[in-house]
Amino acid sequence: MEKIVRPDDMQRITTQELAEKFISEQIAEVKAQVGDKKVLLALSGGVDSSVVAALLIKAIGKQLVCVHVNHGLMRKGESEEVVEVFRNQLDANLVYVDATDRFLGLLEGEADPEKKRKIIGNEFVRVFEEEARKLEGIAFLGQGTIYPDILESDGVKAHHNVGGLPEDMQFEGLVEPVKLLYKDEVRVVGSALGLPDTMVYRQPFPGPGLGVRCLGAIDRKRLEALRESDAILREEFDNAGLTSQVWQFFTVVPDFRSTGVRDGKRAFDWPVIIRAVNTVDAMTATVPEIDWAVLKKITDRILKEVPGVCRVLYDLSPKAPATIEWE
Ligand code: XMP
Repeated sequence: MEKIVRPDDMQRITTQELAEKFISEQIAEVKAQVGDKKVLLALSGGVDSSVVAALLIKAIGKQLVCVHVNHGLMRKGESEEVVEVFRNQLDANLVYVDATDRFLGLLEGEADPEKKRKIIGNEFVRVFEEEARKLEGIAFLGQGTIYPDILESDGVKAHHNVGGLPEDMQFEGLVEPVKLLYKDEVRVVGSALGLPDTMVYRQPFPGPGLGVRCLGAIDRKRLEALRESDAILREEFDNAGLTSQVWQFFTVVPDFRSTGVRDGKRAFDWPVIIRAVNTVDAMTATVPEIDWAVLKKITDRILKEVPGVCRVLYDLSPKAPATIEWE
């Protein structure tokens, strides 16, 4: 296996100018590698795959085929944004697969967090494989591998990074244009490529998505409450200028109900938990002191706008002993 090492003297990409130089070098390199052949890319909408997609569109246009699998566990508006940015604005060759029913069907009744993760991960590979097989003449596989992925895998090409790598499919090679970059450099390149800030500065989002935040066995109504409350949280953090101040924030909906009163009658509704953390490496994390007025506004909006929710909580637990995600 080929060892990949970032040269000691490689300049860090910190400015638009350096990013533009990197982009033109990579365009030339990708063109030389790929020629007139086709490249397949799993486009999740995360920072790395989005930047690779935008770069490859510049280099080879319609020879790039992007596949976006919506597993039904994306945050509100995320899959729509992928379609809007890549298909409508960048004119990409994009295959959009709405596999919501397949994923939610398989997850039905499964409450064990690790089994849920396995179901989602395996099905992702299966859906991606099915789509890849429908396409003809694909020679290369594009990947959003970045340098930390390579460091974590001991310098050997990091296959684990891709959302769904068809193991038994044969490719002439991998196209990994950002494999020597650190995350902050990938973001600078993404901005220089004209990607929106919502994509370039997107907070980390686990592969299993909202699946590990809709606790226990996933239920469509609870999943909807989770998606809507998460959207309100993001909107209000944005309004309060907190989006760039807090490393990761989201809501969680547990699989138990709590008593409330609605219109003078007893209600039995879901609680929503707000989780916000700051961290450097996700190994430990602290909980930021969010302004009371901001928390109150988010609480009021969730209680008013999200059906079936009667209580909102703020999780004060640091990591360790708590993990960032609830499952
Ligand atoms: P925890 O919960 O372990 O999370 O403190 C640390 C970071 O990892 C993310 N996370 C995941 N990412 N697949 C992923 O791609 C997963 O199964 C997964 N579980 C947790 C989490 O969002 C946090 O950023």
